[in-house]
Amino acid sequence: MSDYSQPSQPEDSLAAIAAEVRHCQRCPLAQGRRNAVPGVGPAQSAIMFIGEGPGGMEDQSGLPFVGPAGQYLDELLASIGLIREDVFITNVVKCRPPNNRDPEPDEIDSCKPYLVRQLRLVDPEIIVTLGRFAMERWLPDQRITKVHGQAFRFGRRLIVPMLHPAAALRRAEWRPWMIEDFQKLPHYIDEARRLRAGDDPNAPISAITPPPDAPQQSRLL
Ligand code: URA
Repeated sequence: MSDYSQPSQPEDSLAAIAAEVRHCQRCPLAQGRRNAVPGVGPAQSAIMFIGEGPGGMEDQSGLPFVGPAGQYLDELLASIGLIREDVFITNVVKCRPPNNRDPEPDEIDSCKPYLVRQLRLVDPEIIVTLGRFAMERWLPDQRITKVHGQAFRFGRRLIVPMLHPAAALRRAEWRPWMIEDFQKLPHYIDEARRLRAGDDPNAPISAITPPPDAPQQSRLL
């Protein structure tokens, strides 16, 4: 996982990555796309959300999470006092898989260098993985229904796996989990900053303690 935390090359930029993604031909998903969807957000964001891949509306607009799952993501962000402009949002694959099928391992691998570069540049304290495919990068042996909402330390970041908002839209019984998991984020950001301020960046991976139940006002920004 060290390739996610190396410093970026001085000449790299989010704009350069986005330009490359828009012309990318590294995998067959390029054939079927209308627009590639590189990702959006401030160059320095405390939180990066990583979804699975663009759907129909994202393919049409070139922007991530603008369909129903994105509207739900906006609501969840609002529940902790954030708007989407506060966070960086991207996907494991930057082009829409045909008929919204799951991305193939070789498509994910082809797209990985873009995500690695985005992570180095944005350098978020927290990565929230939305759904199984994003989680598998860091926690390949975990089950999302078991570990969602927990925080796992990877070097100088915390990885917080969450269910995919589209899955929670399909399954109403999962929505309370989504809400609870978002309520933990302000606590995790405090933890992540504390770890960064004082700790050994090469310390081993470990799960950190989830916060007590009480909802918290956002102190993220
Ligand atoms: N689902 C995703 O995983 N990503 C998007 O951008 C939209 C829907």
